[in-house]
Amino acid sequence: MRPISRRRALQLGALGAAGVVVGGVGLSVTGLPASWPPGTRQVGTDGPLSEPPVLRSDNGVLRTVLEITEQEVELAGRRAVVQAYNGSVPGPTWRVHPGDRIEVRLVNRIDAPTNLHTHGLHVSPEGNSDNPFLSIEPGESFDYEFELPADHPPGTYWYHPHRHGLVADQIFAGLYGAIIVDDDVSVTRERLLIVSDISLRGDDTVRPPSRPEVMMGREGDLLMVNGQAQPEISMRPGERERWRIINACTSRYLRLALGGQQVHLLGVDIAHLARPAPVERVLLSPGNRADVLVTAQTGTSELRTLGYDRGGMMGMMGGGALSGPATLATVRVEGARVADGGPLPEREALPDLRDRAPVRRRDVEFTMGMGPGMGMRGTVFGFDGREFDHDRVDQRVEVDTVEEWTIHNPTPMDHPFHLHVWPVQVVEEDGRALAEPAWRDVVNVPARGRVTVRVAFDTFGGRTVYHCHILDHEDLGMMAVIDAA
Ligand code: C2O
Ligand code: CU
Ligand code: CU
Repeated sequence: MRPISRRRALQLGALGAAGVVVGGVGLSVTGLPASWPPGTRQVGTDGPLSEPPVLRSDNGVLRTVLEITEQEVELAGRRAVVQAYNGSVPGPTWRVHPGDRIEVRLVNRIDAPTNLHTHGLHVSPEGNSDNPFLSIEPGESFDYEFELPADHPPGTYWYHPHRHGLVADQIFAGLYGAIIVDDDVSVTRERLLIVSDISLRGDDTVRPPSRPEVMMGREGDLLMVNGQAQPEISMRPGERERWRIINACTSRYLRLALGGQQVHLLGVDIAHLARPAPVERVLLSPGNRADVLVTAQTGTSELRTLGYDRGGMMGMMGGGALSGPATLATVRVEGARVADGGPLPEREALPDLRDRAPVRRRDVEFTMGMGPGMGMRGTVFGFDGREFDHDRVDQRVEVDTVEEWTIHNPTPMDHPFHLHVWPVQVVEEDGRALAEPAWRDVVNVPARGRVTVRVAFDTFGGRTVYHCHILDHEDLGMMAVIDAA
């Protein structure tokens, strides 16, 4: 937690007012109603980038308590009354190794039920492991245990609540943290950048979204990195850093670019490329992570999201009004040049599931519209015409087999598809085969498009879920149950 100093509190008044003016101008230019969409406020820099506290495993075990409270913190340079893990937004970072065990006591001190999901980890979905069907009630605590297999892919993962109906509200209110499964890539420095957004009211509490915002997937007025507005990152010329960037926004897409510096992509989600490739921009749907190497050139650059058109609903917003361009951080390269970082790291390529014959092909389809028998209830959010029902099994799969799934999106908006426990390998987009296997745990399926993935249902059995990672959609029912036996 970063307590608010009096000086900070005084500055806030000024920054807050400036933010409102800038936002107001933006809105009148686009000619949209003042109440919706909110438009991203630019509140000015918030000092050097700071990172959440780090907890490391010791002797193969990371044992910790995660207490959820509603409390005051400083966010984006202002006072905010939010929900926090151990008083920190983002919550503490867990650093573990393949084969480790994570033991977490989750203590719920807010007045709504919650639970804990380890997004992207290849761990059991059953019992007190990564079980999305648990509900930890107000005042209760629960002991989670996550056992990582010895061959767990290294990478950047994250934890967040997964209590159906409240997921978007709780992440938006401040509940998210990083999980890093270590490997060694030698760099000058490693940084974690958790991107999130939030909307705050005049009394510093979280502004609840309107019904149309929920249907589109809410985007916050304030865009933050590690809870800061446009923090500054300093590097010396020649230094090579590894940045792990998490899109923890409930619905906002990020199309990242860092002009003027040399950027190599190590991977997205669990994907790690055998050889890092130079990149100009990286698209992160909600839930995705980017792992990049930044080699400092010289001068000042901005880490920006260039904006992404994620579509819209008939008669509602869309067409660029959402996920607009914004500056996330400023990078200042100055000082004496350091010797360059040497050759780029090479790693072993991940397996290619095209080498394993699928035992079955399936089609699943996002539903956003009138469902059979829905009548007066309005728009249905779901899969294959049905809303989520935790008692119904939508797909039964066999453990240790490979399947090929085609995910269809006939709707006018993009939806990021996310499957728990088992990462997927994208093999085709709109029927075109991909040259390189692309491993993901969140796969964007563009409006009116389709994506084909292969999944190896290896190691673990049990019931879990797949869903849209626009988390308002998930809460509205765009989620389904899969049972592996
Ligand atoms: Cu990041 Cu099922 O969620
Ligand atoms: Cu997940
Ligand atoms: Cu969706």
